[in-house]
Amino acid sequence: MQIFLDTADTDEIRQRMQAGLVDGVTTNPSLIAKSGANILERIEAICAVVDGPVSAEVVATDLDGMLKEGRRLREIAGNVVVKLPLTQAGLACCARFAEEDIPTNVTLCFSLNQALMAAKANATFISPFVGRVEDAGGDGIELLHKIRAVYDAFGYETQILAASLRSTAHVEAAALAGCDAATLPPKIFDQLASHPQTDSGLETFLSDWKASGGASFV
Ligand code: E4P
Repeated sequence: MQIFLDTADTDEIRQRMQAGLVDGVTTNPSLIAKSGANILERIEAICAVVDGPVSAEVVATDLDGMLKEGRRLREIAGNVVVKLPLTQAGLACCARFAEEDIPTNVTLCFSLNQALMAAKANATFISPFVGRVEDAGGDGIELLHKIRAVYDAFGYETQILAASLRSTAHVEAAALAGCDAATLPPKIFDQLASHPQTDSGLETFLSDWKASGGASFV
């Protein structure tokens, strides 16, 4: 499963690129606004440190505006993925970009039917919002399973990008649902490789080694 960081903070991204575990980045207008940066400059800065897909979202709501903004975002770098809202105009833009081989991430997906429409529009990625589905009292993980089942049944190649993930349990559930990718806030990413028993086990190994007079062997 590909792991993307869901942030527009270049420092947060840079710090986490070194281990080679981050496959890409997703941003949205709220995250760009929070960074206080110009969107074009910020996406360019992110693409300078990330080779994988970097989702950059349009803010126009009409087809013509989305086409213009999407093409402008794509001028920044070859790894920019144009993020489009799951609206009629967004789907029309997605279908047009698919014909032009422009990668897309259709966002704000809350239902199986919406995911079906995005696949029919040949989206590269569909982003079901797990946390926000749960905020509204629904089952976000069940939605991921349903999308996986339907995409597999019909052979749709749109990749499922689990989004709005709020916990490490969400990440495990996305993997078990067979999602192609998951995007998560840096603080959740940082917890993925941690376990208290790893920490205590290592502490014991090292204290045993020290007690036996173990010295450096390099
Ligand atoms: C991803 O593409 C979305 O921007 C993001 O995951 C939304 O997460 P939130 O619901 O926690 O804001």
